[in-house]
Amino acid sequence: MSASTEYKNRIRKDALAPNPQLWAELENGEKLTAILNEFYSLAFADPRLGPFFRDVTKQRVIEKQYNFLYEILTGEPVYFGERPRNAHHYMVISHELFEYREQLLADVARRHGLSERGVLSLRTVNEVFRKQIVKDKPFPKKLGGVAFPLEGYETLTLSVGSVCDDCFCELAEGQRATYHVRTGKTYCDACASKYTATTAVDSSIHPATEDDADCTDS
Ligand code: HEM
Repeated sequence: MSASTEYKNRIRKDALAPNPQLWAELENGEKLTAILNEFYSLAFADPRLGPFFRDVTKQRVIEKQYNFLYEILTGEPVYFGERPRNAHHYMVISHELFEYREQLLADVARRHGLSERGVLSLRTVNEVFRKQIVKDKPFPKKLGGVAFPLEGYETLTLSVGSVCDDCFCELAEGQRATYHVRTGKTYCDACASKYTATTAVDSSIHPATEDDADCTDS
């Protein structure tokens, strides 16, 4: 059995145990969708939270968060995103900001009629991930026991055509391009110099110190 299958089969306990009562209150996901739609609309427009979401689409984050909570609350293996430690590895998030987000989510959930017990359960799930998400400096993403670089650029020869993320010129198959090792943003030679000239390059692979095999695990 693969590590990921073992993980999916593992029985979750305590705050991450399936919560059929909360799932029913969330109308088997229908109300959760409404809550997440409003929550992320506010978060994207929020002066403190919005900047974190500059490079992602609201639809994508809503879908990921929905599947993440769906899996935790029902025990069904439907989430295939990154575990919170990795998803937020480059984000500097204080305890106060973590609580600010939590409060915003609680306010939205209440507006959608979630009971105080439901709001508390949702908060309890969030709290499990506080220690992975709150940090005062970025740490490297870790996958399969290997830590990946946070910053830096590498070049590659494109095997399919693409578009420069700066000037939007076409990048043809076979052309050289420069990409950021964390964000994957890709640039033509003319634009790459703007970025590579000002950013310290650290593309070394560091040994990881803790296992990183799964997604929603704390
Ligand atoms: C202030 C607190 C938080 C901020 C600013 C924040 C911000 C973000 C951002 C910007 C992304 C998109 C990352 C990307 O695609 O590169 C993201 C993804 C995600 N976040 Fe958060 N987040 C916060 C707290 C939380 C908490 C408490 C949880 C869980 C309970 C959570 C769960 C997730 C999940 C599941 C994803 C999707 C991961 C994936 O793309 O595979 N986040 N978050």
